[in-house]
Amino acid sequence: MFERFSRAGTGSAKWARAGAGRIAMGVADMDLPGPPAVGAALRVRAGHPAFGYPVAEDADRVLVADWYRRRHGVEVDPRWVMLLPFAPGTAVRLLLEAVRPLPGPAVCVTPEWGGFARVCRAAGVELRELPLLPTGDPADPYRLPLAGVAASRPGLVMLSSPHNPTGRIWSAADVRALAAAAAPGLLVSDEVHGDLRHPDAEVPQPVAVAVTGGAANVVTLGSVGKTFNVSGLPSCFALVPDAGLRERLTAAMAGFGLWEGACWARSRSGRRWRRAARGWTPCWPTWCGPGSWRWPRWAVRCWPVRRLRTCCGWTARGSAPGPSCSPAVTSSWRTDPISDRPVPAACG
Ligand SMILES: Cc1ncc(COP(=O)(O)O)c(C=O)c1O
Repeated sequence: MFERFSRAGTGSAKWARAGAGRIAMGVADMDLPGPPAVGAALRVRAGHPAFGYPVAEDADRVLVADWYRRRHGVEVDPRWVMLLPFAPGTAVRLLLEAVRPLPGPAVCVTPEWGGFARVCRAAGVELRELPLLPTGDPADPYRLPLAGVAASRPGLVMLSSPHNPTGRIWSAADVRALAAAAAPGLLVSDEVHGDLRHPDAEVPQPVAVAVTGGAANVVTLGSVGKTFNVSGLPSCFALVPDAGLRERLTAAMAGFGLWEGACWARSRSGRRWRRAARGWTPCWPTWCGPGSWRWPRWAVRCWPVRRLRTCCGWTARGSAPGPSCSPAVTSSWRTDPISDRPVPAACG
């Protein structure tokens, strides 16, 4: 399914930053082609001579709702879907603008991927960072600081779910309890990596919607860029059950000259691509925090990743490249008959 290609000369931030002779692994930007449907939709659009302002159409909101119903069995009201012509980091910033003045601090759980603190600093919002609490249980080493969140009387709480950087998939109970601890403040559940979880994760998706039933104080962020590896097309969406907050977010966006209408590939054919791509990622196991790497049940199902690592000379802890095979230039691919996932032909 995936063809050979090079990213040289494509303006890739990741590879430009890494420099010659290094394998770039610092950004969630996979060296896989995006779904063919995205390229096809862009070509169709580019074939039209007019490039005016886009509009968010109801059919596009329904596409998002359909995705969650079909893939995850979770009902998302299409009216909640805001189609945003920018990346999720910008969405967090605009949400902060929309709920200003915050009645309490913004709170995030640390470690975090870096963006929450950066955005709060840029917005001049008071930020309280609450570390994950060690449990002493190696099978489940950390838990959310729920009491600390509630005691902060937060205006807004930000959580990445799955958690970046630890890889933790928060349980339904975790997310429900955090939404309660945040209330009446807003919980921003950043689920941009949610579609890359292994299906065995046993948590509904989008988690925050499923476990709070569309509570008014919960906003969920999803990313076309992360799910389909097309982050160069600034496009994400927010699920905002509260109609008043949707209006405030629209007004905050207008203040920056931004309007709803994302760069969508209007296609239903992304599912197969995503499934294949997931065969190349660690699939967000329940827990893969630093120092706790192991190959549990999920890894067995994700065995093509292990084979790729072996093929490329990578180790689970390090990233020493093998002599003949880099992620950018893996030569030829075939679909494995057992897993129905792409594997390099050379990997046997
Ligand atoms: C959890 C999480 N949220 C948001 C983002 C921001 O994504 P973008 O840079 O596309 O805005 C990232 C980026 O890696 C992320 O990991």
